[in-house]
Amino acid sequence: MSCGIHFHILTLFPEMVSEGLASSILGRAIQNGHISLETVNIRDYTVNKHKKVDDYPYGGGAGMLMQAQPVYDACMAVEERIRARRAGQMGSAGEAACIDMAGRARVIYVTPQGRHFNQSMAEELAKEEDLIFLCGHYEGIDERVLETVVTDQVSIGDYVLTGGELPAMVMIDAISRMVPGVLKNEESAEFESFHDNLLEYPQYTRPEIWRGMSVPKILLSGDHAKIEAWRLEQSEERTRRVRPDLYEIYSRKERALGYLMRDKLGHMDMIEAIRRGQAHIQYADEEGVLLKDEPSGAWMVSAVDVDMGERLLSLIPRKERDHLLLVVHQKFLVESIARRFGKTYVNVCRQAVYTRKTAPWQEEDFCIHTIQEEEVDAVYHHYAYHGVHSREDLAQRIRAGEMYGLYEDGQLAAFGGFHPEGSMGMLEVLPAYRRKGYGAALERYLIARALEKGRTPFCQVFEGNEPSLNLQKKLGLRLASSPLYWIS
Ligand code: ADE
Repeated sequence: MSCGIHFHILTLFPEMVSEGLASSILGRAIQNGHISLETVNIRDYTVNKHKKVDDYPYGGGAGMLMQAQPVYDACMAVEERIRARRAGQMGSAGEAACIDMAGRARVIYVTPQGRHFNQSMAEELAKEEDLIFLCGHYEGIDERVLETVVTDQVSIGDYVLTGGELPAMVMIDAISRMVPGVLKNEESAEFESFHDNLLEYPQYTRPEIWRGMSVPKILLSGDHAKIEAWRLEQSEERTRRVRPDLYEIYSRKERALGYLMRDKLGHMDMIEAIRRGQAHIQYADEEGVLLKDEPSGAWMVSAVDVDMGERLLSLIPRKERDHLLLVVHQKFLVESIARRFGKTYVNVCRQAVYTRKTAPWQEEDFCIHTIQEEEVDAVYHHYAYHGVHSREDLAQRIRAGEMYGLYEDGQLAAFGGFHPEGSMGMLEVLPAYRRKGYGAALERYLIARALEKGRTPFCQVFEGNEPSLNLQKKLGLRLASSPLYWIS
């Protein structure tokens, strides 16, 4: 059996974490190999002869800061072990000589300054193979090492604890119970509090009558469809009453998906942003949707007519308007935007969606793996002519482990990856390697990766790029009936 998720915790108090997670359900999950836990004492990596790991902050101020060096070295040691383990797995499976690193592991810094942890983040993180948690102490950690190694900053709430160990343990608990096999009854992780932003419905067990109070009759009826409907109703009612904030998110999402599913192919970018929990839905009803995709910062809009479009555009907060990036799904919105915001730069794209459940990829004789940071310049050199992504955009995608290279005799021959909002793209075959089917191979690989993560693979092709449109059709992607417009 393969381990669902490997947790690596960088801490000054390793026993607090290893002992805290050793009993009950997580203890059993570790014993059974459903998850693994590696605690790493940051102090073991300091080069200071007195084993010191902290110092005073420059500019003065209260308390001590953890220094960059031991944190960096501890993190690099963990990343090296992850690489070695993955290489070993490939070797022992007797698969291709090429090692697929499947991306750099996410490094989560637990801090009150981070994004709030919630159930959808737990679900998203549960899909990772490795997660590295960095626990701070004292007044924090030198900013430079955070900028160098950390991919996510996450908080468990608006209160300050003495260190990051308890928050890391809270997150590990919530993430682990989403890993298949950790809970005995897999159903229970799926249909309970916070699934889909709804609180849990009331539950009852024997006896049927207790202190004169009966179990609701419907639960004794044996009619499962009716019971499901009753439970959903109860969940909705309870959420509306107790957590109106959650209910608003739930109902906005329902309204948004209701509208967007009317043209699934044309709206897959918005649908995926919502499904992946990365969309802030600003407005949704049966006449249009406005959302902000957080990772890309893009505002996505779709409306049935100009009036609705104008209404939605007016909801974009003023402070966002200086560096606005928009994806609009109707041509009339392009004109509205030009009127509202003045000079704009427009890219017209056609969305293509892979709607099948199985990937067109089997283990093939191609060497494909994530691109390493040292290769940024080579990638930029071959991609710059499109004029759509800066070197920094590409570097950021590479650092996130979202860019893949196809290699021939160890040389980069083609590359491609996932944009921050989730679409496949940045696909380029280097001139010397064209006409060998490398572009198609790489895209098939990207499709497989997306499906593996439970996503619907999609891409956006520049209107008029016939070779790429033909490739999408050949690979089984379905084209939307009308274009969409990226506007900056
Ligand atoms: N470290 C200290 N307090 C924290 C919190 N509330 N969330 C995450 N990390 C923390």
